[in-house]
Amino acid sequence: MSRRAAMQVSRLLIEHPRNTTFSSAILNSTSTISNHGVFKSTPMLGSRHRSSMTSEEAKQEKAKLGADGRGAVSSYWGVAPPQLRKEDGSPWRWNSFRPWETYTADTSIDVKKHHDAKTLMDKFAYGTVQALKYPTQLFFQRRHICHAMLLETVAAVPGMVGGMMLHLKSLRRFEQSGGWIKALLEEAENERMHLMTFLELSQPKWSERALVIAVQGVFFNAYFAAYLISPKLAHRIVGYLEEEAVNSYTEFLHDLEKGLVENQPAPAIAIDYWRLPPNSTLKDVVTVIRADEAHHRDLNHFASDIQCQGHELKEYPAPLGYH
Ligand SMILES: [Fe+2]
Ligand SMILES: [Fe+2]
Repeated sequence: MSRRAAMQVSRLLIEHPRNTTFSSAILNSTSTISNHGVFKSTPMLGSRHRSSMTSEEAKQEKAKLGADGRGAVSSYWGVAPPQLRKEDGSPWRWNSFRPWETYTADTSIDVKKHHDAKTLMDKFAYGTVQALKYPTQLFFQRRHICHAMLLETVAAVPGMVGGMMLHLKSLRRFEQSGGWIKALLEEAENERMHLMTFLELSQPKWSERALVIAVQGVFFNAYFAAYLISPKLAHRIVGYLEEEAVNSYTEFLHDLEKGLVENQPAPAIAIDYWRLPPNSTLKDVVTVIRADEAHHRDLNHFASDIQCQGHELKEYPAPLGYH
């Protein structure tokens, strides 16, 4: 079963926990997911809306929730949350992402690809990114984890702004987006997962938190204005930013290989999100993050190219499920 089909079945199981007939009909599909994928989903068959319960059933339900009734806080209108398990039978422990959002990164991607800046707009975008790069390098030098953690707080902004702008455009114009809204929101979420991963390795100091608040205030508004004025310029700038992200993760990998940075065990969140082997290390994590950045680079240069050639994004299907 393809990953997309598996995702759909998993979603259906979660969204229709009360429909026993429906759930039974697709349980075979669930076992197929388990055979081919990594995770098992256990639907809460027979869970019922509180208002349709008999008093005895309501008592039993209350007993399940505990004497203090605190369990009810985590239920959605009386429907218990789905119980997800990994393939090895251990419970799925992340609320921030679910098994069907995990993936295996394509590390075969070309990490040296570069878009030649030929037009005035491209040169402006490239110059802007280079001007931002040098002070950043000077500030962080070889503090790679800190560098990555703080830059991911910025990297997760453009996808959300672009996705929001295309969403509003779709509503205003009564038209489809060609999947680009979803692709950009996927990018934003993927960047945020990079941040969540680095947070397991290093905690920001108060001064770094203050810096991030200030930078987000400036960058969000600047990128929002750029996207309003020229979406193709905005995507080109992100394409070049992602090229630099690939370069800085390549330097990170070199320092890990040289032993200048300790190659510590991979955080648990990274092992589950990228479906890495349990004995993975920081080097494996940086390798898959670099592959993600290379995909973002390609997606944003592609988005800019479409518009530079006089087309609209919706005319070309977005590379969905790409991250
Ligand atoms: Fe990132
Ligand atoms: Fe990125």
